[in-house]
Amino acid sequence: MCGVIGYIGKEGVAPILLNGLKRLEYRGYDSAGVATLGSDLHMKKDVGKVADIHKNINFLDVPGTLGIAHTRWATHGGVTKENAHPHTDCEEKIAVVHNGIIENFQELKRNLVSLGHKFKSQTDTEILPHLIEEIMRKGKNFHDATASALKVLEGGYAVLVLNKNERKLIAARKGSPLVLGVSDTGYFAASDIPAFLEYTKNVIYMHDYDMALISDNGLKIFNLIENREVDRKIDTIDWNIKQAEKGEFQHFMLKEVSEQVDTIQRAAQQNKEVIDQVIKELKNARGIFFVAAGSSYHACLAASYIMSKVSKLHINVVLASEFPHYEHYINDKTLVVAVSQSGETADVLEAVKSAKAKRSKIISLVNVVGSSLTRSSDMFLNINAGPEICVLSTKTYTSQLALFTLLSYALNDRYEEGRKRLNYLWNEIYQLTSATTREKIKELAEKLQDKEHIFLIGRGLQYATALEASLKIKEVSYIHAEALAGGELKHGTIALIENGTPCIVFVSEEHEKEILSNAMEIKSRGGYIIGVSSKNNEIFDFWIKVPDANSENPIVQIIPIQILAYQLAILRGLDPDRPRNLAKSVTVK
Ligand code: AGP
Repeated sequence: MCGVIGYIGKEGVAPILLNGLKRLEYRGYDSAGVATLGSDLHMKKDVGKVADIHKNINFLDVPGTLGIAHTRWATHGGVTKENAHPHTDCEEKIAVVHNGIIENFQELKRNLVSLGHKFKSQTDTEILPHLIEEIMRKGKNFHDATASALKVLEGGYAVLVLNKNERKLIAARKGSPLVLGVSDTGYFAASDIPAFLEYTKNVIYMHDYDMALISDNGLKIFNLIENREVDRKIDTIDWNIKQAEKGEFQHFMLKEVSEQVDTIQRAAQQNKEVIDQVIKELKNARGIFFVAAGSSYHACLAASYIMSKVSKLHINVVLASEFPHYEHYINDKTLVVAVSQSGETADVLEAVKSAKAKRSKIISLVNVVGSSLTRSSDMFLNINAGPEICVLSTKTYTSQLALFTLLSYALNDRYEEGRKRLNYLWNEIYQLTSATTREKIKELAEKLQDKEHIFLIGRGLQYATALEASLKIKEVSYIHAEALAGGELKHGTIALIENGTPCIVFVSEEHEKEILSNAMEIKSRGGYIIGVSSKNNEIFDFWIKVPDANSENPIVQIIPIQILAYQLAILRGLDPDRPRNLAKSVTVK
């Protein structure tokens, strides 16, 4: 996943692009580049993080009030300066930045090479400026040539295109997010709202196949499937720039973990009529599938336990990438609940597309209104967590859980009880995210920082928590962490327990006896037991005290481990906001 930002208007474009790159860097941080239109086309790009590149080549000294920029997460071609965006045509008059994957680029590239085009990079993106150039050579104008070029691309794109000879910005999307910003001084186009949030809160969510032609005379949007100009409304969003900044925190991850005091309450603030409609769909469905990836999948797994316990509802929980193997069950009576904080995860969008082909109803839980998933759904619920910049899902995970908890109670006509239970958590989460707790967890992080393996076990709801906890630790500290259901221990994994092997045990009062006997089996083989529990126990070598919150245990029990993962990353000299090889949203399959 990459980030693109563009601007055309009255302001100097260089600082707008640099600010945008910094706010988009969570989407990819291999390399970055800018192209602006002054008296000529000016381009600068290099490998590395935005701040480091800027220090070396100064992104601020490019002229003009029209420009595009890109921060890269490599998919095609290594991390090199040549592969950094923007990319240009042979005569360096067309410049393009792109997020997505052009699946038929080899065939298009072969054809362009046979026509004499010279390529400088190994990227898929570079075929686009050459294709536009080739079509313009045959007589089409810039706008029509770009439209024709986009129509032959297979795969996904969010592209911004400049032409040295015309003061216009072209922005187009298919399958990758792209949103426009409208201010008094000009127009913005970016992969995500935080890139231009400090300049305007007026946004236009582009639809797939939309192509915007933006000039000083205004904005026109064409849809390349409908082949006509379309009207997209301007929304005013209620985020503020503070939510997209670190503030007094050293990293977004710790800021967003701390925000859970409020975000869990916000998740519970829903439109009751919409909740009632969702409940009706859940009750009427013949077969319910929760579909997600990563942390969102773990939230769905926890939700399936809660819904079976609180509402006696049977939920099929399926990894989005595995959904094709369940398609024979899907029909027009099926309800698919797609859960994705970004609303852009390719596997989830693919699953939804195939479910819709079987005429299933789609309800989604998202954090980004206007994302591809919201537009592919019959209905959606907003988890209201605000922008989550860190690559790791923390506040969005617990907000998904909070919303699922609310739905579980609402299914039993106990909506107000569900809201009360979530409100009750405020004080507990305040304690769990306090400096005192962080200090206590730091002691544990210091004990674990050099470990090669960490095991995590739980039963029922606590098994879902163990899975999410292991993902947090792996993603950000690079320590191998393996989660398993407590009952599975003796079926093999216990063979790996050696003297000093750490194991985090998630305990609920409901299943205390069984999981503590699993812990005893590990301890008797030399394991180091970390108990996440409302009560201490002689088995524990380290005790993390949490409230016993029953069906809300997944919310309260994950928070100390989010903090543990963060502190392990810091102790190991890693950047918690930019873990290696990862991207905030996996927009490619
Ligand atoms: C979670 O910390 C990871 N960043 C990742 O597993 C993430 O949950 C997954 O890619 C799903 O993202 P989504 O919720 O935006 O679909």
